[in-house]
Amino acid sequence: MEERIHGISRRGLILNAGKIVAGAAALSAAGQLLNPASARAYKVTGKTYKYTKLDVERVGEITYENYFKRWCASSAIAGMVEELKRKVGGDWNNFPIDAYRWMHGGLAGWGALCGTMPGAGVIIGLVTGDTDTAEAMVNDLAFYYSYTELPTFTPKKIIKSKIKHKTIAGTPVCHISVGRWMTAEGVGFLTDARAERCARLAANIAMEATKMLNAWADGKYKPKHEPLYNVVANGITSQNNCRDCHGQYVPTPNETYDTLEK
Ligand code: HEC
Repeated sequence: MEERIHGISRRGLILNAGKIVAGAAALSAAGQLLNPASARAYKVTGKTYKYTKLDVERVGEITYENYFKRWCASSAIAGMVEELKRKVGGDWNNFPIDAYRWMHGGLAGWGALCGTMPGAGVIIGLVTGDTDTAEAMVNDLAFYYSYTELPTFTPKKIIKSKIKHKTIAGTPVCHISVGRWMTAEGVGFLTDARAERCARLAANIAMEATKMLNAWADGKYKPKHEPLYNVVANGITSQNNCRDCHGQYVPTPNETYDTLEK
């Protein structure tokens, strides 16, 4: 691993590769404050998306309830935006929550990236108004999604079904994440139980994103994880679950780095 990444210069794109140690998750850029909330909201053609600290549990409940009409991406957006409408108002009142609905099911049912993270990421990007901060938060969100037993959110009132299992996805990929949970629970995809699981998972992700934005609003957000960690550690855009697909014959990426070299 260290051999492979030796000598990469990331030139402001990514950070000092010399400090990267295979297997360690919290590295050089992690733990540093990135453009804290002195920042103003992002401006989109004259619109302003101001942030104020939100009640994390309420965001979770709203996301959960919205899932059953909007699915993952737009329900995570709704959880945050409905609270921002209530507490901030302004341009949040006209926010197009359903414009991102196609992200559901890992992009219109293609099982690619779980829609919860890009959903929450849309709000993170608008609020922070700084692409490095937004990327750091979304990276932390992907680590949380991939390596936490989920869903842990428990609704006040269950809408569809009781469920028993929590699983670790090991990846932000919808298909693998939901497939692992379905195997554990012993249910099919088009079931109330599976919908319930994804609704609770969406709540967890919207809540985690809200926690980060709340910390940022206090000037206290620090990235937990190294930006572009997987690219640098594995030499390819990836999720550290190589054997899920390659079995024991994981190909070794080409070890030249034309793009990133000085
Ligand atoms: C979701 C499934 C999946 C996962 C997980 C995955 N790969 Fe792949 N990977 C593929 C497929 C499919 C190809 C294309 C192989 C082909 O068509 O020959 C590929 C291609 C590659 C290639 C280019 C082909 C080659 O032989 O050089 C490399 C390198 C690679 N993967 C490395 C990795 C590494 C390292 C990891 C873990 C960090 C990983 N992959 C995780 C599915 C996956």
